[in-house]
Amino acid sequence: MTEQDEHDRYDRWKALGIRTDIPHPARVYDYLLGGKDNFAIDREMAEHSLRVLPEVLDSARGNRKFLVRAVQFLCDSGIRQFLDIGTGLPTSPNTHEIAQSADGGARVVYVDNDPVVFLRAESLMAESETTTVVRADLRDVDEVLAAAGKLLDFTKPVGLLLVACLHNIPDSDDPAGIAARYLTALAPGSYLVVSHVTDEFAPERMHAVTAEYQQRGTVFVGRGKQAILRMFNGRELVEPGLVLISHWRPEGGRPDHNANRVWGYCGVART
Ligand SMILES: C[S@@+](CC[C@H](N)C(=O)[O-])C[C@H]1O[C@@H](n2cnc3c(N)ncnc32)[C@H](O)[C@@H]1O
Repeated sequence: MTEQDEHDRYDRWKALGIRTDIPHPARVYDYLLGGKDNFAIDREMAEHSLRVLPEVLDSARGNRKFLVRAVQFLCDSGIRQFLDIGTGLPTSPNTHEIAQSADGGARVVYVDNDPVVFLRAESLMAESETTTVVRADLRDVDEVLAAAGKLLDFTKPVGLLLVACLHNIPDSDDPAGIAARYLTALAPGSYLVVSHVTDEFAPERMHAVTAEYQQRGTVFVGRGKQAILRMFNGRELVEPGLVLISHWRPEGGRPDHNANRVWGYCGVART
């Protein structure tokens, strides 16, 4: 590729709102999961995190496995509509693949603020009448609900996923309050799924990672168990409650051998 091609490509990304000068959580996570939809700045941030906190790798992988188990649980509980907020780059199996293998008519709305996620997901869903992707900031609750309402029927139960994205929301934006606003839109019998990185196990090293992200213009904040519990806004958690990610209904009934290196809490609540 010539220098001019490089410039043209950069200009196209810029026009689409893609920032290649700051790391984006979706692309850092993609790199950690072995994906190819990331830029040098994302790889640098991921490698820095891994040097300070090698557990980041197990945490990313363990979190993705949780998402799969939680969506399967919701399907088994009769949920046929999903609002997957903070979707991430497509990583098989995606929420719609799990949901639609349970019921071909299951509807899934993905929401993410990363233009790369939007472009990749949009091209994957182009022909679909049951799955769509919305490019929006999860803090714009009314906008997200209005867009999701074009496909989902909010008078019927919905599985709301806020999986590994609320740790990108600073305290000043009140992540528990944001979750509360989504919850008020859900019909009885809906479910809320949350996972979130914790700083409880190595606060200093986690805070060093947070500081590095912050210096590069990105929010990434580990929180304690009580702060994560507040994101459920008092809704009743299904068994086993709010637990370390690998301990939530592990496959085969036993957590993976690396369970204690997956540093986040998760839970599923029925509304
Ligand atoms: C670590 S990934 C999690 C992906 C997926 N939920 C999972 O658990 O495998 C976090 C995702 O949240 C998205 N995200 C972060 N802040 C967001 C915001 N304010 N609005 C919408 N999406 C956001 C990121 O773009 C990224 O795709």
